[in-house]
Amino acid sequence: MTYRVLISDPLSEDGIFPLRQASTIKVDVKTDLTEAELVAMMPMYDALLVRSQTKVTRAIIAAAANLKIIGRAGVGVDNIDLTAATEHGVIVVNAPDGNTNSAAEHTVAMLMALARKIPQAYYALKQQKWDRKAHVGVELKGKTLGVIGLGRIGREVALRAKGQRMKVMAYDPFLTEEKADQLGLIKGTVDEVIKVADFITIHTPLLKETKHLINADAISKMKTGVQIVNCARGGIIDEEALYQAIVAGKVAGAALDVFEQEPATDHKLLQLPQVIATPHLGASTIEAQESVAVDVSYDVVRLLNGDLVKNP
Ligand code: NAD
Ligand code: MLT
Repeated sequence: MTYRVLISDPLSEDGIFPLRQASTIKVDVKTDLTEAELVAMMPMYDALLVRSQTKVTRAIIAAAANLKIIGRAGVGVDNIDLTAATEHGVIVVNAPDGNTNSAAEHTVAMLMALARKIPQAYYALKQQKWDRKAHVGVELKGKTLGVIGLGRIGREVALRAKGQRMKVMAYDPFLTEEKADQLGLIKGTVDEVIKVADFITIHTPLLKETKHLINADAISKMKTGVQIVNCARGGIIDEEALYQAIVAGKVAGAALDVFEQEPATDHKLLQLPQVIATPHLGASTIEAQESVAVDVSYDVVRLLNGDLVKNP
């Protein structure tokens, strides 16, 4: 019996070696497919591996008569119709640990670049402008970082922020006082965190409950001059509300790795000098991409061989 696996987003070639070496598995890598192309191809595949570009819709899942498993090489499964997968008996596995470190490092890089206006200064200098006055930043030391979502990445960011001698206050529905003490941070409600923070960083999944968690009302409770980092998911911040708050001077700056609609090249937030951005690069390191691809590939091999997976 030979199982066929389709990889529809670019994945690390080293990371998919468990699939390549499995004698019962034939792997096809075909990226940049439209939904219609995927619908047409899916009946011949037993497994589909994606990153975040492929939107695994109900139509794709319904067409995939032989599909047993969808592997997500990364954390967020918001690009997969989980309800449709469940209805069709398709298992969805992700790789929750492999990119934690890279995403945390990227968040801290964005936080520091935001505080010191590094991208703006770089851009000016590339245009031959030696402008020191326009790029005066603020220190992180002594400032309060508000962390919304203290899971794998939020925790790593909090620990690194303490290394910058920031005070850290966090909200997560599962954060206990004991855990907060152990990590050396203050536990608060969302409102408490957003009211006291000088910088806010978001690390929740995108869920019904977290959609537009940072909206006009939440922003109105924040300190004037607050700066916001989002390396989690677009859609957790109401982008229009953020835009208006920056224009009004309530929010001093934002660092965004993710957008509600991606790719987001022609976005009005990108026109604001107070906004720095990267094109969803949080997990884009050689290490993270290899690690998530290895994890999810092993799970697909195990499942197709009738074994249990690591992250069902
Ligand atoms: P995680 O599941 O380990 O942590 C998420 C945390 O959010 C959990 O502790 C959960 O309790 C908490 N949470 C859930 N609902 C909440 C709410 N309403 N308010 C506050 N907290 C809430 O996930 P993670 O690995 O830390 O990933 C965090 C986010 O980062 C996800 O959205 C993930 O998709 C995203 N991510 C982005 C990149 C990137 O490239 N930018 C890379 C990796 C992960
Ligand atoms: C994730 O959820 O793991 C990230 O968005 C990284 C990605 O796969 O691009």
